[in-house]
Amino acid sequence: MSRGETAGRCVVWVGRPSVEEHFGLIRAGWRTVVADPSRDAGDPPPCGQRAIAVLDLRQDTEPAARMLFELKAQHPDLPWIGLTGVRASADDVALKRLLSQAFHVIEGQAPLGALRQALRRATGCTTDVEADPPSLLTGNSPAIRTLSQNLRKFAPVELPLLITGETGTGKEMAARALHQLSPRRDKPFAAINCGALPASLVQSELFGHERGAFTGATARRIGHFESADGGTVFLDEIGDLPLDAQTNLLRVLQEGTVERIGSCQSIRVDVRVLAATHVDLEKAVAQGRFREDLFYRLNVLRLRMPPLRERTGDVELLAQHFLDAFRESYGTRARAFSSAARRAMNAFPWPGNVRELMNRVQRAAVIADDALITPDDLELNADTHGADRDSLGSARTSAEREAIMDCLRASAFNISECARRLRVSRVTVYRLCKKHQLAIDQLR
Ligand SMILES: Nc1ncnc2c1ncn2[C@@H]1O[C@H](COP(=O)(O)OP(=O)(O)OP(=O)(O)O)[C@@H](O)[C@H]1O
Ligand SMILES: [Mg+2]
Repeated sequence: MSRGETAGRCVVWVGRPSVEEHFGLIRAGWRTVVADPSRDAGDPPPCGQRAIAVLDLRQDTEPAARMLFELKAQHPDLPWIGLTGVRASADDVALKRLLSQAFHVIEGQAPLGALRQALRRATGCTTDVEADPPSLLTGNSPAIRTLSQNLRKFAPVELPLLITGETGTGKEMAARALHQLSPRRDKPFAAINCGALPASLVQSELFGHERGAFTGATARRIGHFESADGGTVFLDEIGDLPLDAQTNLLRVLQEGTVERIGSCQSIRVDVRVLAATHVDLEKAVAQGRFREDLFYRLNVLRLRMPPLRERTGDVELLAQHFLDAFRESYGTRARAFSSAARRAMNAFPWPGNVRELMNRVQRAAVIADDALITPDDLELNADTHGADRDSLGSARTSAEREAIMDCLRASAFNISECARRLRVSRVTVYRLCKKHQLAIDQLR
């Protein structure tokens, strides 16, 4: 199948695909629209002539089936493929009747290979097309092109990788892209946010536990490292990993084994470890908060995600990308940005980076009255001109400080309100306050 054959071909996924499934289809050349019945109920997605639906019955069966009926009411000829996590039980007559109308039914938890095959058969295509890997990371700046090249170099190498960068720069996205580019792409990708896990649970989450290992351990639990065997484990906010878990992680990296809590049996695991941090790990090592030997083990390959303000030219590209993606699902009136909006976006320091840009664009797309999004729609100041870019380089830090300070004042120094206005997380606001030495308690 040439790329021309896939052009316009679209999979409407009724349900929630895993990231691997979503990327897997995109990589195979399928435009993929996700229609999540728990989120988009009563709102079947736009669906063209050359679409095929995937009815994902692995979560809530009824809402998904209802959404498929709505789709079929509008597009009676729409072919569809059923995905069931397990074999439909013999007495579930309604489900069996529904599935009997499918072009094909796939059973099991990891259906990507079978699904690609079924999609090809349903549409008469002969082979998949691998999408261009860098397209997984939108952007064309020198910084992002170098990053994409490094991603491709690092993907096939079985070494740990440390990804650094400010909040919202795409660290997790890069980790997922790397997994997709690697020979492990058809195996699990487990993303664990070490900062979000209570210290008492980290070990059990990562390495598992035996029944009775501690109070409340009523059953054996398999940890992420074991269940991701053959795949990739992404440890986000690795700087927050407690010291005892750091020791066990070192064992995984050195010996390729884990021990469940409450067991002294070593279990061999084959995982590639990717880690991300927004904190300076060298500093954490110097302060004794992070094991030096672990740091050197993780820091073999390093990827630095550039902040958006360093990605010259990418702001407009990303903004249009987010707007197009949003329009595809919601068909908004806004389709582009006014020149004033583009100037304002280029001059803004983007403390929340790509995530903040995406959030502002989506909100602007909803509220914009015209085809062109204005600075007001983006809640950006139209007077900020990007003319003196060089001086902005050093001025940006103080602009960032001012932006945070202004927003804090406008939010009466309420962190949640400030985070909402800036469209970043509360953690980011705290981080920025720390970075710019803004003592909230005193300012209040
Ligand atoms: N190059 C890109 N193209 C498209 N979307 C992107 C890109 N980079 C980041 N994003 C989007 O921006 C958001 C933030 O990305 P991600 O979660 O990977 O950042 P992060 O660095 O892990 O953030 P944090 O430090 O807060 O955990 C996500 O919704 C992601 O899809
Ligand atoms: Mg992240």
